[in-house]
Amino acid sequence: MIYLDNAATTWPKPDQIIESFADCIKNAGANPGRGGHKMSLAAGRLIYKARQTVAELFNIDNPSRVVFTGSATQALNLVLKGFLKPGSHVVTSSMEHNAAARPLHFLKKYGVEVSEVQCSPMGFLDPIDVEKAIKKNTTAIVLLHASNVTGTIMPVEQLGKIAVNYGVKLILDAAQTAGLLDIDVNKLNIDALAFAGHKSLYGPQGTGGLFIREGMEFVPLLQGGTGSKSESLEQPVDLPDKFESGTPNTPGIACLAEGVRLITEKGLEQIRRHENLLLHRFLDGLKLFKEIEIYGPCDPMHQVPVVSLNIKDQDSSEIAFVLDSVFDIACRSGLHCSPQAHKTIGTLERGTVRFSFSMYNTIDDVDSTLNALDKIITEMF
Ligand code: ALA
Repeated sequence: MIYLDNAATTWPKPDQIIESFADCIKNAGANPGRGGHKMSLAAGRLIYKARQTVAELFNIDNPSRVVFTGSATQALNLVLKGFLKPGSHVVTSSMEHNAAARPLHFLKKYGVEVSEVQCSPMGFLDPIDVEKAIKKNTTAIVLLHASNVTGTIMPVEQLGKIAVNYGVKLILDAAQTAGLLDIDVNKLNIDALAFAGHKSLYGPQGTGGLFIREGMEFVPLLQGGTGSKSESLEQPVDLPDKFESGTPNTPGIACLAEGVRLITEKGLEQIRRHENLLLHRFLDGLKLFKEIEIYGPCDPMHQVPVVSLNIKDQDSSEIAFVLDSVFDIACRSGLHCSPQAHKTIGTLERGTVRFSFSMYNTIDDVDSTLNALDKIITEMF
């Protein structure tokens, strides 16, 4: 199979990650932080090390400000529903994934005001428009780092500066960029960073996390057992326990950390260079088909390796079905849980066929996909 659905979940997973899953269950399969026996302590150490590893990747000074969650969606719900209060105003973009767009829509019913800044049809966001949308009661800018539909990279550096100038928080959804673009929470002035473990960090599904900067205080979504201060009915106030009630996904977190080690060893720059090579070749090949409409920047400088397209007026799921069933190529069609983004690029009615690369894809994968598209077009028209 040629797997080009990496924006949803990267596959295959490297052997060392699969092995770390088995190793954790075998040797550190007890509850971390809940017992004094050797295996519980081993599990606790594993999670502590994972927190440090993630903190290093994002240049987070204090690892205890990294909270593990089951996904980027959970991380975003945690910060948005905790931090935003009735009467507060947030600025967001018209390219958001439902992971942020739905909680924000939900919060509107509870008095949170939301301004959605219109992006260009290629998915570009103008920082000046964000600045203009800021009001007296604005408390946060909520934004994805790169679109999961067009790959468009958002101007986070400028927005971080704007956030500081106006004294508002920058809440970033890095689901598509963690492990791919260099993210330094201090340099970029990020106050909360939501990340997924199962995409470019090469961890398993059911993993993710949230960095919360000191000074960003809010109530957790869940209360419960943390293995700490058990004598009190009050939820602990210190991080990470405050936001990590219940037995954590230790094997998943171990794999996520292994994924971070792997990409750090390989080097983010090298990974990006490889994926950009694939992206370049794919875009160049696609441009030769007059029947194909490509969405987004069509420029590796301004996008992560995610490409959305349509073939004439064909249904996007029909094309994805043929690619899968006839050519054994996996991609994703439809709206990609991002109706706002599709509205922005003009594809809300029929969606797009989306191809996304990982560091394990090859030039051959790209060429075979271009050949498959060529055959589909020849047979269809
Ligand atoms: N958000 C993931 C995607 O874009 C699931 O496919």
